[in-house]
Amino acid sequence: MNSAPRKAFVIGHPIRHSRSPLIHGTWLETLRIEGSYEAIDVQPEALPAFFDKLRDGHWAGGNVTIPHKEAVFALCDEVDPLAQKIGAANTLVRRPDSTVWGTNTDYIGFLNNLDQNAPGWSENLGSAIVLGAGGASRAILVALIERGIKTIHLLNRTRDKAEHLSKALGTQIVPGDLTDFSKLAPEAGLVVNTTSIGMHGTRFEKLDLTLLHKSALVTDIVYTPLLTPLLADASSLGLKTVDGLGMLLHQAVPGFEAWFGARPTVDAALRWRVEATL
Ligand code: ATR
Repeated sequence: MNSAPRKAFVIGHPIRHSRSPLIHGTWLETLRIEGSYEAIDVQPEALPAFFDKLRDGHWAGGNVTIPHKEAVFALCDEVDPLAQKIGAANTLVRRPDSTVWGTNTDYIGFLNNLDQNAPGWSENLGSAIVLGAGGASRAILVALIERGIKTIHLLNRTRDKAEHLSKALGTQIVPGDLTDFSKLAPEAGLVVNTTSIGMHGTRFEKLDLTLLHKSALVTDIVYTPLLTPLLADASSLGLKTVDGLGMLLHQAVPGFEAWFGARPTVDAALRWRVEATL
């Protein structure tokens, strides 16, 4: 049996801003596991050769980030059906028979973040509003469907994209325009921002959060800044909020467990460490 320390990676291009080495490095340290996790810059044209090396057993597996999340599909030997639905893989596992299995842990990260920070959020939810129909919204929609949310209003500046996702993912998803928010807000128990609005302090121009019920939960998958204008506005109205950093931390758990054989926890110490780098 091979007892050499296990190695994992995150590949992307560029890769220097990834927080994954800090997250996995912290867990390796706290769980006293002899292993390593490295960030590797892989150009798109070098991806097939990287997969050859992965099959050869150089690593137990790793994470995949922009721009490779879709491209790795064609190179994996097997892909988890939920990752297929999401249309992207962010986690690779090299199996003992030298095949590579791809999965997507963003949807688990999203659900576990809300479960940890707003327990019971999905009970008697009514409907959910998801803002944005880009790449990042697919994992959130799949997560909400998996959790059994019956009505998910998908509002996007470009309505066509919302309609396309509704057709691709299911009839629970009701497409609409951002201006429909006012009409839908009173019945919504959850609002999720998946658009890039919020990064660098940008804000939605016409989103009247005062129309939400006082028990509604507002969450953002943007975590730079941690307190986006949307979350700040919701919070000042007394609404419950959950920031996007927890999703990043929780999505890392299944990969770590698959590569290193121990299930890590997302705790305050890890959060502080990562928060300090934002
Ligand atoms: P990602 O893969 O991170 O989701 P994306 O595919 O570029 O990135 O999607 C960005 C999302 O933010 C889209 O829903 C986009 O709306 P459009 O589909 O209409 O482009 C949304 N978005 C970005 N800037 C926006 C703005 N200023 N106002 C409204 N929506 C915006």
